[in-house]
Amino acid sequence: MCGIVGYIGQEQAAPILLDGLKRLEYRGYDSAGVAVYNRETGTLSVRKAKGRLHVLAEQIHDGADLRGTVGVGHTRWATHGAPSDVNSHPQTSRSGKIAVVHNGIIENYAELKSFLISKGVPFASETDTEVVAQLIEYFYQGDLLSAVGRVLHRIQGAYALGILCADCPDQLIAVRKDSPLILGYGEGCSFLASDVTAILRRTRQVSYMEDGEIAVLTRTGIRCYDHLMQPVDKEIVQVDWDVDAAEKGGYEHFMFKEIMEQPEALRRCVSPRIRDGEVVFEDFCLSPEEIRALEKIYIVACGSSYHVGMVGKYHLERLTRKPVEVALASEFRYMDPIVSEKTLVIVISQSGETLDTMAALREARRRGGKILSIVNVVGSSIARESDQVLYTWAGPEIAVATTKAYSTQLAVICLLALYFGKLLGTIPPADYRSALEAFQALPEQVEQVLSRKDDIQYYASQYFNHDSVFFIGRNIDYALGLEGSLKLKEISYIHSEAYAAGELKHGTISLIEDGSLVVALAACPRLFPKTMSNVVEVKSRGASVLALTTEDRRAETGQIADGVFTIPGTCELLLPSLSVVPLQLFAYYVALMRGCDIDKPRNLAKSVTVE
Ligand code: M6R
Repeated sequence: MCGIVGYIGQEQAAPILLDGLKRLEYRGYDSAGVAVYNRETGTLSVRKAKGRLHVLAEQIHDGADLRGTVGVGHTRWATHGAPSDVNSHPQTSRSGKIAVVHNGIIENYAELKSFLISKGVPFASETDTEVVAQLIEYFYQGDLLSAVGRVLHRIQGAYALGILCADCPDQLIAVRKDSPLILGYGEGCSFLASDVTAILRRTRQVSYMEDGEIAVLTRTGIRCYDHLMQPVDKEIVQVDWDVDAAEKGGYEHFMFKEIMEQPEALRRCVSPRIRDGEVVFEDFCLSPEEIRALEKIYIVACGSSYHVGMVGKYHLERLTRKPVEVALASEFRYMDPIVSEKTLVIVISQSGETLDTMAALREARRRGGKILSIVNVVGSSIARESDQVLYTWAGPEIAVATTKAYSTQLAVICLLALYFGKLLGTIPPADYRSALEAFQALPEQVEQVLSRKDDIQYYASQYFNHDSVFFIGRNIDYALGLEGSLKLKEISYIHSEAYAAGELKHGTISLIEDGSLVVALAACPRLFPKTMSNVVEVKSRGASVLALTTEDRRAETGQIADGVFTIPGTCELLLPSLSVVPLQLFAYYVALMRGCDIDKPRNLAKSVTVE
């Protein structure tokens, strides 16, 4: 998704902006641009280019062509108007003296554009963002802040804005509404960025802008105002992320690095939450009485986070006997959901910035629900708007395809199921104890699975040329299949579907023919015989079957399937946490063999901040 970076200081701005944008490349984009104020000419130099950042960097000789110590930069992921040089940001006003970078969408841009055209303002691009630049100039009468304030009263939608004006070259203006924006504090310099990774190499002192806030950045500091232009004191926090953790560290791809980091991520996520044989969540937002009184649990999320919710539903219902409904965040808002003060709404998001998920959270809150979020990015919008945040502590996840965030989200929801189950008395004490023991062993078991990655690579080499792949399974294996299928299609571009194994015969089995590949997920012991009977059905129609099961079932599975991959035995609760690893590796190796752009798959973005 789009990335913003801004700098005002003593050094040349353009190389700093390019470096910041480079750190944001992982978000996905289709064009890039920078605007820098040139003190000698008194004008803004704007350079933009469709394509990868290196195209822009080559055009401006890594920034050397643009002289000036204040500027803004942007990587754009097209929404209004095709990817092109002219539609790239920064967008400028007709005179060229105001430049704007923008993340989000101005929903009433068409109406504002008609208004400006009626006043004789010519437009160069198809973007909603150009409306902002033009409107600022329209209202500008020597006071930039007041012009920006007037514009904010007129625009609707979601926006993070970075604004530079040739008449006020000793300041940058930042505005936030429903799209993240971070302020960075340096020695004799200030930064703005849509994501902390953009500025981490320059400063660790940051503050998070709130909705409706406006900031004025200068070389000596940052002043912040609320929507009524009242000064706001911002808390400055120290970011302690390891910079190298946001880099590839010798691996060919971030995705592979992040798959391999899962044991460590799980240790970080789980260990502090199991103490003296108990699951511990400090300062839990619900009292035991409130948990007992819950009438319903909703889980809302998108993509892989939604798939975590699908697994979580099975676990939570089994262990708590409370009804659990899982909803796609993009649907939740429009389905008139039944939420009351006796509903717990679990919001899951790696980035904590997914717009659909954020909107669902607000809808749930409006209806009285208690919000518990499971989030990776500390201080993100979803985290900040929740009654309780359970951080996954997976560390920065850069690859678009999520892996370690999925695993840690899953771990948190399993811990939550145990926590509730114990409190409600719906989990037998022996099961609770054995689940906690299994949890302690989990990181090591994931290491064991990873150590057999060559087997998965072999299977990938056998099947990477298939055009279509089906994932089948029952119950938690079905929920896991959804993730296996998404992982494969998003990075390898192979058509793939996940089906509840027993549902195939109601239609989809007509697609199975000689050579179809079916990945059969048969880890859940109580459903193993049922799933294997579905495997026989697809085998007898010509499918090749790659099966995933536990070690003790290897021999009997091998009698039916063409290939078998096994995971170590564990309790039912943690089977998906082990099974997902071979599925991630399979998708990775298949994509590698097909020569795909693994970390930045086409058309996708890491953080989806548009509806
Ligand atoms: O940051 P979030 O967890 O809210 O993102 C939700 C989805 O966009 C995300 O899980 C997406 O499906 C993954 N990139 C898939 O690997």
